[in-house]
Amino acid sequence: MSNPPIKLATTGLSKTFRKGDFQVEALRDISLSIREGEFVSVVGASGCGKTTFLRILDGLIPASAGAVAVDGKTVVRPGPDRAFVFQQDGLMPWRTVEANVLFGLEIRGRVDGPGRAMARDYLRMVGLSGFEECYPHELSGGMRQRVNIARALAVEPDILLMDEPFASLDAQTREIMQAELMRIWQETRKTVMLITHQIDEAVFLSDRIFVFTARPGRLKTEIVVDLPRPRNLSMKRTAGFAQYLDRIWRLIEEEVREGMRREEQTSSAQHTRSAAS
Ligand SMILES: Nc1ncnc2c1ncn2[C@@H]1O[C@H](COP(=O)(O)OP(=O)(O)OP(=O)(O)O)[C@@H](O)[C@H]1O
Ligand SMILES: [Mg+2]
Repeated sequence: MSNPPIKLATTGLSKTFRKGDFQVEALRDISLSIREGEFVSVVGASGCGKTTFLRILDGLIPASAGAVAVDGKTVVRPGPDRAFVFQQDGLMPWRTVEANVLFGLEIRGRVDGPGRAMARDYLRMVGLSGFEECYPHELSGGMRQRVNIARALAVEPDILLMDEPFASLDAQTREIMQAELMRIWQETRKTVMLITHQIDEAVFLSDRIFVFTARPGRLKTEIVVDLPRPRNLSMKRTAGFAQYLDRIWRLIEEEVREGMRREEQTSSAQHTRSAAS
């Protein structure tokens, strides 16, 4: 069987934030590609540029150098082919669950009968049938995050970009949401890029994991997760799974230490300079 086509690709992507004399190099020379229907994760130390990377992929901010392409076409702004799921659910408290899911469709001028039916379909998919008329404050954190995912799915994007979508949830809800996301992905076959700090989440869900270096984020390595599918949560307790965890932890730990060492050097150099002046 031939490989699915490349859905999303970055070439030489770099980003430096500048404010007057101050500048932060967030990303350096990232080239990677993702095939249609693939589930990939990005992991790396805090501050290594993961959110920045995802925002560039979505077209929310421009790269300083390099390019992003979806289906071979350069991305310059957000588009209906991509949906972004943020860490905070961002639901509008004055709108019902259904009206929140419809929001993305309204922006695209589709609040007709089929649009509403679609919203209900996606709410069913995330297990929220019967809650259409509730308001966000009447839901648990996990349920709100499900609405958030339904809202992203309702615009029928090809690509879901997810930035730590389960970070605010407790450990048990998080596990359930991981299994739910797996099920939804299997049902919809979207191309997914997930950012997470939970290595087990990345291993459980992904076909491939991109490990970033400490800032400036570069692609340190790419790990193919060769665990059979379908996967279930009990797989997390197998030796094969633990080996992936261990390997990725070590790669990230190396980067955290290296990042700390560089920061110490910078601050001691500043200290020496200010003592000399
Ligand atoms: N809008 C901005 N203006 C200036 N600097 C920024 C901006 N956004 C991010 N940065 C800087 O870019 C670097 C990377 O930030 P980013 O939020 O992408 O990291 P991250 O890997 O998502 O971190 P975390 O894991 O903590 O969420 C940081 O040093 C941050 O200060
Ligand atoms: Mg982030």
